[in-house]
Amino acid sequence: MILKVNSLTKKYGRFIAANNISFEVEEGQVFGILGPNGSGKTTTLGMILDVTSPDAGSYCWFDTTPGSNQRKHIGSILETPNFYQHLDAESNLKIAALIKDVPYSQIDVVLQRVNLLERKKYAFRTFSLGMKQRLALAAALLGNPKVLVLDEPTNGLDPQGIIEVRELIQSLANEGKTIIIASHLLDEIEKICTNVMVMKQGNVLAAGRVDEILSSQFGIHTSSKGAKDSKLQTNNNMEEIRIEIAADDLYLLELELERLPYVVKVEKRKETLMAILNKNIDNKSINQAMFDRGIVLSHLIKIKKTLEQQFLEITK
Ligand SMILES: Nc1ncnc2c1ncn2[C@@H]1O[C@H](COP(=O)(O)OP(=O)(O)OP(=O)(O)O)[C@@H](O)[C@H]1O
Ligand SMILES: [Mg+2]
Repeated sequence: MILKVNSLTKKYGRFIAANNISFEVEEGQVFGILGPNGSGKTTTLGMILDVTSPDAGSYCWFDTTPGSNQRKHIGSILETPNFYQHLDAESNLKIAALIKDVPYSQIDVVLQRVNLLERKKYAFRTFSLGMKQRLALAAALLGNPKVLVLDEPTNGLDPQGIIEVRELIQSLANEGKTIIIASHLLDEIEKICTNVMVMKQGNVLAAGRVDEILSSQFGIHTSSKGAKDSKLQTNNNMEEIRIEIAADDLYLLELELERLPYVVKVEKRKETLMAILNKNIDNKSINQAMFDRGIVLSHLIKIKKTLEQQFLEITK
């Protein structure tokens, strides 16, 4: 067992930031802690990293009693990483290596790993947000830890930066590292985690394998998650796509919509219909299909509900 957490609780005054949190992480898992802002993710990570002192409960890394030796097997990024703005990447990592008691020879290795070797002589302040995040990962990788604990590693990144960091995490997981990752993005957890614990207002709502939890909690049906590479699959087909649609004759419109192969369900609204589609069909094709059946649309908008939105609705 990599980590066993027993009833950890953290209070700030009378406010309970984390309430009776228990979970287990096995070797090789990518364990996600999923929850909206303020649900207690960082508090929980802070406790297992010995940065935040719990009011109750306990945890155990590697089935052994706490000690500085086990800390060497855990690399972490908690909150925004601290680097010196004017120093270059290499110098910043030298400081991190000194603190971690790791030889300088590892610096190039980890820089290469996060694809920043060519930038090692550039000042930290010249780095993009994505590069800064990758440098933080490089620092966490010093000492080649068995476990990585990452708090919102893609926060604030643009889509390209998100992809870079996610791919890096995935390749580290494929190398057999155990990864514990906090995120408020359901889509992110779905893409990279094998296991998940869902938190809300300091409590654990659900925990288990990603495919099981997401299908029972969110009605999302993922393909079997057993194979490592299946994690790389995208979830485009899991978005719920709705259209709000209207014509003069709503009754006729409903009949015709129900005949379309990609329409799953049609619901009546006041002056419009709401149709749920199983495919992302463009508005033009829907318009054309209706026109071919003698219906002129007076209204057509697409409402794409992302997994994040569905998740937010459930944890609201
Ligand atoms: N030092 C503190 N003093 C008082 N309250 C705190 C402190 N740290 C956290 N909290 C509160 O505890 C709750 C949980 O915070 P935490 O940072 O763990 O949430 P989170 O799930 O990481 O949220 P986010 O997604 O915004 O990072 C929040 O309501 C927060 O305001
Ligand atoms: Mg947080």
